[in-house]
Amino acid sequence: MTQMPKPIALFDMQAQQALIRARLDERVAHVISSGRFINGPEVAELEARLAAFSGVHAVGVSSGTDALQIAMMAEGIGRGDAVFLPAFTYTATAEVPLVLGATPIFVDVDPESFDLDLADLERRIALVLAEGKLKPRAIVGVDLFGLPADWDGIRAIAAKHGMFTLDDAAQAFGAKLHGKSLGQHSDATTLSFYPTKTLGCYGDGGAILTPSEERAALYRSLRTHGEGGARYDVLRIGMNGRLDTIQAAILLCKMDLFDQELLDRAKVAGWYGARLAGRVGLQRVPNAAQSAWGLYTIRCRDAAERTRVQDSLKADGIPFGVYYPKPLHHQPAYAASHAASMAGGPPALPVSESLCHQVMSLPMHPYLTQAEVERVCAAVLRGLE
Ligand SMILES: Cc1ncc(COP(=O)(O)O)c(C=O)c1O
Repeated sequence: MTQMPKPIALFDMQAQQALIRARLDERVAHVISSGRFINGPEVAELEARLAAFSGVHAVGVSSGTDALQIAMMAEGIGRGDAVFLPAFTYTATAEVPLVLGATPIFVDVDPESFDLDLADLERRIALVLAEGKLKPRAIVGVDLFGLPADWDGIRAIAAKHGMFTLDDAAQAFGAKLHGKSLGQHSDATTLSFYPTKTLGCYGDGGAILTPSEERAALYRSLRTHGEGGARYDVLRIGMNGRLDTIQAAILLCKMDLFDQELLDRAKVAGWYGARLAGRVGLQRVPNAAQSAWGLYTIRCRDAAERTRVQDSLKADGIPFGVYYPKPLHHQPAYAASHAASMAGGPPALPVSESLCHQVMSLPMHPYLTQAEVERVCAAVLRGLE
């Protein structure tokens, strides 16, 4: 009887857990015994660990979405403000400015990096300025699939207009630009610890990184209902955006593996690249950047080719994901705001639209073997035949 190969996971949290299970049990049991479920010492310990890793201040919060909200609330972003962000991203990036009363302005992405297209960004800032209805306040760059956006370029454009730079690094913790960690390239950087992220907890969690001590203090206040000074002094309107102590304890255990996991993700990406380059489109990593390889995404020629590749993977029992099947401006929740954001209708977003028909993400985690990557690549290549 031939043995069926072990199923390949899109993300694998089991292999990682097996390595640290005893330590996880110990640390979680310690939190349970201590009873300090909110603001326990593990939260400060994790923040110190994140700060040491990234070289800037770190504030733990309840999710990547709340991290974006706290960072924007701290700037007073709201009604009348334009927040520029890619149309090809997860909904949370665009949802937050709308929740705060600001207007998201969708920007197209670069066809090779899938991150913000800076020429399109400048064009849309100029249009908003010419119209004079909204004030350009912030640029939110997304390090999609783990690849740092062009932060040198984004910062230069922001500086010209006095805008705030916010790095949505939910998919990219561990990535670097010019050898420096994310957190050092923008005014604020938000992380998600959603379980499948490069550093994931066992529930929801997130953090905000910033080089500014004043901003970090503001984030600490905002995540606790705007408290400051003495307990129950409410200095400003905030929210309940704290990171749970148990999640901090879990993340501390996972931080012990993190450096090695980043190396292993890069090794997996290298195996994929060696087999797939020239056959499908791959996310281009500029020389200055080191991706965290949150996802490994390929670009097919068109929707029909993508369906053939997907069918081939399905036939071999290999999982895949499509991030994202629709650009945000085509989502019902954003259509009205998008249409109204510029008089006469905003310019088209052709790259974001075509990527949604072309991209798909292959299994990516640090515990994939070369033989498993080879199986995935063989199935992709069969789909192209
Ligand atoms: C680009 C991006 N931004 C924000 C978020 C939101 O993070 P969370 O799920 O922790 O709220 C995610 C999560 O998937 C994301 O991928």
